[in-house]
Amino acid sequence: MSSPKHVAVIMDGNGRWGLKKNRTRNYGHSEGVKVVEKIIEAAVENQIKFLTLYAFSTDNWKRPNKEVKFLFHLLEKYIDNQLDKFINKNIKLNIIGNIGKFPKFLKNKLKKAQNLTKNNNKIQINIALNYGSKEEIIQSFTKLIKLSIRINERNVSDNLYTKGIPDPEILIRTGNRFRLSNFLLWQSSYTEIFFIKKLWPDFNKNDFKKIILKFKRMRRNFGGIK
Ligand code: IPE
Ligand code: IPE
Ligand code: MG
Repeated sequence: MSSPKHVAVIMDGNGRWGLKKNRTRNYGHSEGVKVVEKIIEAAVENQIKFLTLYAFSTDNWKRPNKEVKFLFHLLEKYIDNQLDKFINKNIKLNIIGNIGKFPKFLKNKLKKAQNLTKNNNKIQINIALNYGSKEEIIQSFTKLIKLSIRINERNVSDNLYTKGIPDPEILIRTGNRFRLSNFLLWQSSYTEIFFIKKLWPDFNKNDFKKIILKFKRMRRNFGGIK
């Protein structure tokens, strides 16, 4: 089996990790960001072309304001720290989700980062922000109906935030929870899903590589017989 092109990740377990260390949930988020860097490296080393990271869901607004604010702060810092590297290492940054509600300065920063990296082609990192799969599917249908475009699989796909991106072959969820939490429901209809016990801050490059190897040994049928 050839290498996967697209790996999607639900980076779950930061909060529990922070509490387990007798620190705050936010401490767990800070440590979680460090792992993102490592996993991007691992993805590049494994010739992955698209890496989609679930960073903030449409339902994460339900969290205490202090935590939501901290996550935005981390995102801002992350872009500030990584943008030069993305530019130098030929990494394209793309945001999926509805960031209309985000603070203006952050929206501008994200827009700028996407613009400055838009021609890069080593790997594309999709950060899912205020992302919800149901919202994404509804906005796709809404667009099609408004433009009187026929509703079929191709047209629905072409109006998702992931337009032009192949469906993920692999979806990883860390944090010992066995659910999709409104992530890529349409796109993962035939995706191989790996539920990992480790909390996100403990996940490492080797764990990622092991998953890729396991995937390569899998037989995928897509409903047929092989
Ligand atoms: C990270 O893990 C996911 C984000 C929303 C950033 P959590 O914050 O959900 O951590 P747990 O699952 O509560 O431990
Ligand atoms: C999914 O994790 C969202 C992200 C990783 C960004 P959650 O922690 O929000 O999901 P639930 O609430 O456990 O289903
Ligand atoms: Mg969680």
